[in-house]
Amino acid sequence: MSLLFEPLTLRGTTLRNRVLLPPMCQYSATDGVPGDWHLVHLGARAAGGFGLVIAEATAVVPQGRISPQDTGLWDERQVEAWARITRFVADRGARSGVQLAHAGRKASTYRPFGEGDGSVPASAGGWPTVGPSEDPFPGYAAPAAMTADEVRAVPAAFAAAARRADAAGFDVVELHAAHGYLLHEFLSSLSNHRTDAWGGSLENRARLVVETVDAVRDAWPDAKPLLLRVSATDWVEGGLTLDEVAETVRVLADHGVDLVDVSTGGNAPASIPVGPGYQVEHARVIRERSGLPTAAVGLITTAEQAEKVLAEGAADAVLVGRAALQDPSWALRAAHTLGVRLGTLPHTGDAAVVTDD
Ligand code: FNR
Repeated sequence: MSLLFEPLTLRGTTLRNRVLLPPMCQYSATDGVPGDWHLVHLGARAAGGFGLVIAEATAVVPQGRISPQDTGLWDERQVEAWARITRFVADRGARSGVQLAHAGRKASTYRPFGEGDGSVPASAGGWPTVGPSEDPFPGYAAPAAMTADEVRAVPAAFAAAARRADAAGFDVVELHAAHGYLLHEFLSSLSNHRTDAWGGSLENRARLVVETVDAVRDAWPDAKPLLLRVSATDWVEGGLTLDEVAETVRVLADHGVDLVDVSTGGNAPASIPVGPGYQVEHARVIRERSGLPTAAVGLITTAEQAEKVLAEGAADAVLVGRAALQDPSWALRAAHTLGVRLGTLPHTGDAAVVTDD
């Protein structure tokens, strides 16, 4: 039996295998409501054998959307629309997750569909952004530095969205603390120049993510896992380091995080040594130092490569993104490649058998 196709149990929730679909913005929602496109995107990968499909960065408040076309979980209409999707995913034997997000100073930007670059002006449906400090992300409009009351409202907004995620039938919530969005902006001294309780020392910069984890854990059922996506480094001198992130995750292990999804970058222009499995080492270090399970992501494209990540003890699961956009049945094909008999997989249902023939 391959490690990749061993079930993974987190709290009271079992994933049928360790091949996960990472959150990927589809930029195709209206008023934050997912539609047929999202059903097909997530449903096809559930039918394609993935153990967990994680819906894209989904804003906890409208101002937290990366683009005007992002999905949300700030109202009941969105709950109903997501429920249709989670029912389909469950019917295919996969678990469904949603990444809860606030884009902070990187909100209100054009989707990458050629309609414009950088920040969307108010005349085209954009809105003013907020961040820990007034520094803009290069090329974007400057945010307003959040007041203490605005910072205090963040954990409650994530918690309310988590309650809606539960009502919508999601099995897993992932908090987006990566890629230069609000929680990462607070963590990194590149973007956080506050002098209050949320700025300065690592403990202070990590306060908002700790408070958000606590609030979400309170609102989210005990049996359902809470994942955290981090950027393990800013890849910039003077930015967030692997040591700082590993230490933060070690603390969060006692606050009810169940697995860490380890990505990197996104908070500043950087030179990133992109290549096959280029973030796997970060997942290994965070796993060793925090004692928490990790998922590795980033140019993991073949079944053998994914199996090796687990065999070497770098992570407990892998996330396969762009390769799964090319092949929605990536997981079924990986099972075939690794000689796993699909009929023996738990919860595979009547998913079509994929062969290379
Ligand atoms: C992404 N990624 C991403 N990450 C995230 O945390 N939230 C998101 O909503 C998105 N959106 C998104 C959209 C699209 C079209 C792509 C291609 C990527 C990053 C993604 O989750 C993943 O970390 C990277 O794509 C690296 O993995 P792969 O694609 O090399 O397997």
